[in-house]
Amino acid sequence: MVDTLKQYIDSNQKMFQRLLSEYIQATDITESLRKSMLYSLEAGGKRLRPVLLLASFEAYSTETEKTYSSALALEMIHTYSLIHDDLPAMDDDDMRRGLPTNHKVFGEATAILAGDALLTYSFEIIANDPLLTDKEKLYCIKHLSKASGPSGMVGGQILDMEAEKQPVTLEKLEKIHSLKTGELLKFAVTAGAYLGKASEEQISFLRDYAHYLGLIFQVQDDILDVIGDQEKLGKAVGSDESNDKSTYPKLLGLDGAIEMKKLYTEKALTLLEKANAHTSKLLELTNYVSNRDH
Ligand code: IPE
Ligand code: IPE
Ligand code: MG
Ligand code: MG
Ligand code: MG
Repeated sequence: MVDTLKQYIDSNQKMFQRLLSEYIQATDITESLRKSMLYSLEAGGKRLRPVLLLASFEAYSTETEKTYSSALALEMIHTYSLIHDDLPAMDDDDMRRGLPTNHKVFGEATAILAGDALLTYSFEIIANDPLLTDKEKLYCIKHLSKASGPSGMVGGQILDMEAEKQPVTLEKLEKIHSLKTGELLKFAVTAGAYLGKASEEQISFLRDYAHYLGLIFQVQDDILDVIGDQEKLGKAVGSDESNDKSTYPKLLGLDGAIEMKKLYTEKALTLLEKANAHTSKLLELTNYVSNRDH
């Protein structure tokens, strides 16, 4: 990773961390629930989704404060999805973002409610943002709810569960990955561009770009579950194998998964160029997503 990208990611991670904590502190929440929500948000994480949203906006515009509410909302929804993904009824994982999982610390009932609270609070944040026009609020709420819901992340999670213990085709695996992971990344890239006043044509190319970015991201997540370093990842490796998940390494072997990731990366970069966004931070972020070790 080149230094400038590292600095860009680091400084924005810090900013989003501060804003996330501020937003949770700024509202009236029962203390036990607040603690559980803050625990998972403050545990860290790469903040890739808000950083992507920001980078996409910056490919077209400059006044970045406009992106904060949707970037924070997106990270809250992603964090909720991780809390629920780790529950015993789902992937049953004990470590997340370098710490014991939410339900290990607060119990399953509170963990479920902390997830629910992060999901719903995210829409409140966008609705209350004084920097957005009503049209922009509606766009963000409409697309974020679609990306998170039954035809987005949640829809992918159920397909992922149903694909346990049974072989799937490459086509089906792409569908699972693009829903459970890709849709939220797609929101990051397209909402950033929309708020930055990109043209409809540019947004359309970016939507296709983000489809491949989502696949690259989840293929690498699957690869890291096999060969990653637990310390760096902050979560257990081998979880997919013990849950008999359908993954790229399982379907294509490790080398096949790496090959597929290269293919997706080439496609993603071509589409980025078509969207006139290939000189932006998005180009470097694509390579970062593909080669990340955590
Ligand atoms: C993990 O996402 C869950 C997947 C969608 C594969 P990240 O790898 O972005 O997790 P954090 O936010 O850095 O913890
Ligand atoms: C989860 O995918 C994607 C979500 C919607 C949370 P994984 O189950 O592979 O994510 P990790 O590996 O536990 O982070
Ligand atoms: Mg899972
Ligand atoms: Mg999991
Ligand atoms: Mg995984």
